[in-house]
Amino acid sequence: MCGIVGYIGKQNRAAEIVLDGLTALEYRGYDSAGIALMNGNAMQLYKQAGRVQGLKDLMATDTTFKNTAVAIGHTRWATHGIPSVKNAHPHHNAHQSIMVAHNGIIENYQEIKDKLAATGYVFTSETDTEVIPHLIDYYFMRLNSFQEAIEATLRDLRGAYALLVMSSLEPDKLYAARLSSPLVIGVLSSGAIIASDPSAFVGRTKKVVYLDDYELAIVDSSGNYKLRDFTKAKAVNKRTELLDFDSSAALLGSFPHFMLKEMHDTPATIRMATQGRLRLETNTVKLGGLETVQDQLRHIDRIVIVACGTSYYAGLVGEYLIEEIAGIPVEVQLASEFKYRSEPFSRSTAIMAISQSGETADTIAALKKVENYGVLRLGVVNAVGSTIARMTDAGVYCHAGPEQAVASTKAFASQVTVLTMIALYLSDGSSPLYKPVLKELSQLASKTEQVLARSGAIKKAAKKYAESRDFLFIGRGYGYPCALEGALKLKEVSYIHAEGYAAGEMKHGPLAMIDKDFPTFAVATGGALLEKTLSNMQEIKARKGPIVAIVTDGDKKVNKLSNDTLPIPASLEQTQPVLITLVMQLFAYYVAAHKGLNVDRPRNLAKSVTVE
Ligand code: BG6
Repeated sequence: MCGIVGYIGKQNRAAEIVLDGLTALEYRGYDSAGIALMNGNAMQLYKQAGRVQGLKDLMATDTTFKNTAVAIGHTRWATHGIPSVKNAHPHHNAHQSIMVAHNGIIENYQEIKDKLAATGYVFTSETDTEVIPHLIDYYFMRLNSFQEAIEATLRDLRGAYALLVMSSLEPDKLYAARLSSPLVIGVLSSGAIIASDPSAFVGRTKKVVYLDDYELAIVDSSGNYKLRDFTKAKAVNKRTELLDFDSSAALLGSFPHFMLKEMHDTPATIRMATQGRLRLETNTVKLGGLETVQDQLRHIDRIVIVACGTSYYAGLVGEYLIEEIAGIPVEVQLASEFKYRSEPFSRSTAIMAISQSGETADTIAALKKVENYGVLRLGVVNAVGSTIARMTDAGVYCHAGPEQAVASTKAFASQVTVLTMIALYLSDGSSPLYKPVLKELSQLASKTEQVLARSGAIKKAAKKYAESRDFLFIGRGYGYPCALEGALKLKEVSYIHAEGYAAGEMKHGPLAMIDKDFPTFAVATGGALLEKTLSNMQEIKARKGPIVAIVTDGDKKVNKLSNDTLPIPASLEQTQPVLITLVMQLFAYYVAAHKGLNVDRPRNLAKSVTVE
């Protein structure tokens, strides 16, 4: 869950290019950072505990610093060994002639460490990664070919890795290899940038080559690259692809935080997700990414959705939509649990993986589990060309553009929009909900604009409750997954203990917690279940619990029971979740901003978790 960046080329600006890339990848981990620079046959190494800015400051004060044309760098999210200079990457061999930056986990590192230590190798860090430069050194001593030494090392490693290797033994080459963890080459006119994801070189090139598992890339200073499959020791041919998003999408603009910017991207995100797909004139939905499996889809009688975090809650909304509109039974499972469950699967079951990054290890593992089950594997993914997108048989891209803030916001809106279209696509149009939902979906973007225009009231309510120690979120029906997502958002960015609960469950336990200091966020946006929700709010009121309620414009009933009401434009129950959740995302953001917290980089979290 780290970010790695390497540059090799004709420009003597490797330090700047790599440091800019690391800054863009900080959402992947930010507890320590390091960079190694190739200077002739020597290498300079800088490491710092803390953010990339600290590393820049360290280098700025070093008079011996000399810029160069080859460098590799790393921003870390600790797995093995505490965040410290000693454990920061790049790691190296005893002579500092081999440098390695690594994202992932080497599962058999202890075994390798013991073997190498027995032959005299000395280890200076607590990391799993440090075995790699020593093992390359070990093989180089025996094989006398640097490339073969790397390939032999890669064949010994177990686990997940994206690696960058540079050596003063071969100063005009950079090596990159991948197994499970993402890695992409950005091809420049004279050189290349290799990174965990394209946001590290956005604005410098759109020409990319995605590495697949078991691939090794050897890149020279002109940017020429050779690809090899290191398990079969043979060459691989691959064309470059073009990125489909522009740099502005990845830049902050006038917003104070990416989280706020990305919430304000929601209307455009919904328009991007429905563009060319929602056809009002013919009342149809076109999903090109599913057309290749249309025949199989007709025979699907069960869908199992696997996902993590916010994507999981989008999946829960998808469950309601697909069951109600398309009449297909859906089960939503946490990917980290799914992998270790043993349950029966019939060939007429489809697996649907939902992921913003497309690189979440638990979700990848869930897909791997069923790869030989003969079941259809579908994907709802934002990151184009990501691992999950390439593992699935068919799917739908969300086209939400890069999401930088660790807490996911616009991606949730695009996932739910796509799931609504999938429900319509899978239904044969006979559902009485088909046309109304299709029409309502076409108006959703403008309704989110109305919610954003009401940020002032949401900010005011957030300030009022910012010092709360606990918070409960309740909802029924489509409001239930929204309550879960609202609680997650508040937890993620404000560190307040928040729980999402089905409103009907209150009296079976959570009501015990309620008192005048324990506020509740209630989803009370009309629909068939409003009366039920009102009685749950009564139960809270009777225990003096403060209530913030999300209501529909023109509501007369709810505001009698709530201390604060946050209205959303009227909409069908089926299309309310994006509106309700946007209010809760804004609320969480304003609470965290009011508390002066690092909204985009909350403590202990990372944007995409690429290790199990
Ligand atoms: C977490 C992110 O690491 O992973 C969450 O902080 C996200 O925001 C979750 O929802 C799942 O990620 P993805 O990329 O698979 O949707």
